[in-house]
Amino acid sequence: MSRDIHAIGLDIGSSHVRCVIGEAADGGKMNIVGIGEAESKGLRRGIVTSAEAVSDSIRKAVGDAERMSGLDAGAAMVNLSGEHFRGENKAGVVAVAGVGREITEDDVSRAVESASAMSLPAGWEIFSRLPQEFIIDGQDGITEPVGMSGARLESLVHIVIGPSAGRQNLEKAVRRAGLDVERMMLEPLAAAESALTDDDKEYGCALVNIGAEITSVMIFGRGAVQHTAVFPFGSLHFTKDIAHGLRVSIQEANKIKHDYGCVAAFLMDDEERQQVIEIVPVGRSESRRLSKEILCDIMQPRAVELLQHIAHEIAKTQSSIPSGVVLTGGGSLARGMVEIAEQVFDAPTRLGFLEEDYFGGLAAEIQTPAWATACGLALSSIRSQVREQNSGGRSPKRKVAEWFENFRERFK
Ligand SMILES: Nc1ncnc2c1ncn2[C@@H]1O[C@H](COP(=O)(O)OP(=O)(O)O)[C@@H](O)[C@H]1O
Ligand SMILES: [Mg+2]
Repeated sequence: MSRDIHAIGLDIGSSHVRCVIGEAADGGKMNIVGIGEAESKGLRRGIVTSAEAVSDSIRKAVGDAERMSGLDAGAAMVNLSGEHFRGENKAGVVAVAGVGREITEDDVSRAVESASAMSLPAGWEIFSRLPQEFIIDGQDGITEPVGMSGARLESLVHIVIGPSAGRQNLEKAVRRAGLDVERMMLEPLAAAESALTDDDKEYGCALVNIGAEITSVMIFGRGAVQHTAVFPFGSLHFTKDIAHGLRVSIQEANKIKHDYGCVAAFLMDDEERQQVIEIVPVGRSESRRLSKEILCDIMQPRAVELLQHIAHEIAKTQSSIPSGVVLTGGGSLARGMVEIAEQVFDAPTRLGFLEEDYFGGLAAEIQTPAWATACGLALSSIRSQVREQNSGGRSPKRKVAEWFENFRERFK
């Protein structure tokens, strides 16, 4: 396996910028060879508010990853997030012409283009075109139409749209930090790349990425994205509730959340509920005491509310998700989040750790769902580079699968 294939995943979040440098390893794995993390400045709900501040955070995270790996970063896969993203399922149809009416790559491109013909709000653009399936002369469920015979080719495509300015400003901030943008990828799609198995995507599951200010949801089924939604709330809302409820600073509230927070009271026994936390209210020098139970009383209703919004969105789509719900992002790490989510969703729920089959090297150092996006970005780049490099000697079936994957990449 060619060890000279490298990739840089750059996850620019509202609370942290994370950078992962990976190299291609045997068995389709990626070895993580460099990691870097910086506190994020200059972003609000995924949108750049100060390019200079964002660039500084990027420089720091990328610089640390470069030093660790001994490699120079050139171009990075960057995540896209923002509260305005919207996913829609569209259908397109084209007539297949030519000798023997054999479907060509060009026909497939035209069919996807045809599905993408939509009127967009001013200043908006299409970010992702993710083919779901193709239908040839009424026969559905086809993932690889090239080479098949038919006269009428229909496409079902999941299209994600959003405002252009957010993407452009993010790109500028990355370039300002001295990096090129290899490609941009929606945050939940990147997180899914590292935390979901092919079976999860095939049988159906929902990936829920809980960030600081934004929570994004992507529903997978039949190997493709079926639904995308973004909510303008995240883990920072817990911090704000704590700050407000206990009259402490945001910094203190964040520390209390991390050190003692719990969003599922039933996980604590009586003794733990009565355990005392000392807090220092704003403008006071003496501390105050409260029980862990009171802290949980502040956090749990907020967690339930947040999860109910998501559960409602999933229910609305009438998707079947036998593989359950997978939580990623730093917000998923709050104690009790999985347990309470399992109740609200009434579906098996787990944390989206990095899939062991996909990652090697330093993976153990960052084995948390907070790193799923950064690792997924790098992995996605490695996978496309490996696919591009591998030519010849493959089984036709594999070739077809690779073609379809690369085709999807082209339309992201
Ligand atoms: N152990 C934890 N318990 C509770 N909240 C946590 C924990 N770890 C991280 N968080 C929260 O997760 C959020 C950051 O998640 P992250 O995915 O990095 O966000 P973003 O992508 O928006 O930068 C912060 O609000 C942080 O307080
Ligand atoms: Mg994030």
